[in-house]
Amino acid sequence: MHDKVVVVTGGASGIGEAMVKRFCAEGARVVLGDVDDAGGLRVAEQHGAQFLHLDVRLPEHWQALEHLLGSDYGRLDALMNNAGIVSNQSIVEADISTWSNLLSVNLTGMMLGCQTAIKVMQKNPEGSAGSIVNTASSTSYLAIPGDVAYCTSKAGVVGLTKSVAVHCATEGLNIRANSIHPGATMTAILKQAVNEMPELEPKLARMSPMGRMGKVDEVAAMAFFLASEEAAFCTGGQFPVEGGTVSEHPRML
Ligand SMILES: NC(=O)c1ccc[n+]([C@@H]2O[C@H](COP(=O)([O-])OP(=O)(O)OC[C@H]3O[C@@H](n4cnc5c(N)ncnc54)[C@H](O)[C@@H]3O)[C@@H](O)[C@H]2O)c1
Repeated sequence: MHDKVVVVTGGASGIGEAMVKRFCAEGARVVLGDVDDAGGLRVAEQHGAQFLHLDVRLPEHWQALEHLLGSDYGRLDALMNNAGIVSNQSIVEADISTWSNLLSVNLTGMMLGCQTAIKVMQKNPEGSAGSIVNTASSTSYLAIPGDVAYCTSKAGVVGLTKSVAVHCATEGLNIRANSIHPGATMTAILKQAVNEMPELEPKLARMSPMGRMGKVDEVAAMAFFLASEEAAFCTGGQFPVEGGTVSEHPRML
């Protein structure tokens, strides 16, 4: 990935921060997009990336990214479509503004990212090429009743990714798209819940038959593989990073 240009959304913390760290360490030129300006600037400075205030819900922010890539970088090799939020509302609690906002970030934001990435990647100097990695979740397959919008969005990411992958492949664009599916990983998204309910932490660890939560660097490693040429024949796939969580039959004891 040396000198490749990589965009990471949601790069100001957690899994996205680990992605920024990994790609920068591998010599890529990284643009980090996030709504958290303070966190984004901190991570960018720490690892040598460029921060851009990017709200993934807004088409005009994606246009600004497109212009930045055109004027300052002249290419895009990989997009980590990673920004995501939770709602903590079950089907009976869901209110329309929370539901709509979550889907705007977790699903529409990723669609806009795919559109933008394809546009820029098609204009790469050596010809159309690139890799899109969408952060889904183990909840794409296994529902949590307490967050209907989140589960819906993460299942939607699978369909989005497959459609993008098949479109790009059949159009001969040499642009790949895959989803990654972390299990419980200790980041800000879960830290808040664990602070409020400490008894949650061992339960989260037990979600995996390996008996522990995931580490952000383990998720970044999968993203790095999919972005690289090592994954040249991988597209439309769903790649788990969850210690076997969705492989296990519910336990009897
Ligand atoms: N942590 C887990 O257990 C887990 C498990 C499966 C999937 N995921 C997914 O991984 C991704 C990263 O989550 P995380 O755990 O690192 O959480 P996190 O809260 O640490 O990071 C999410 C980042 O997204 C940013 N963000 C939120 N709304 C945004 C918007 N509108 N535009 C741009 N950026 C925005 C936040 O500011 C934050 O920096 C998410 O898509 C999440 O759903 C997390």
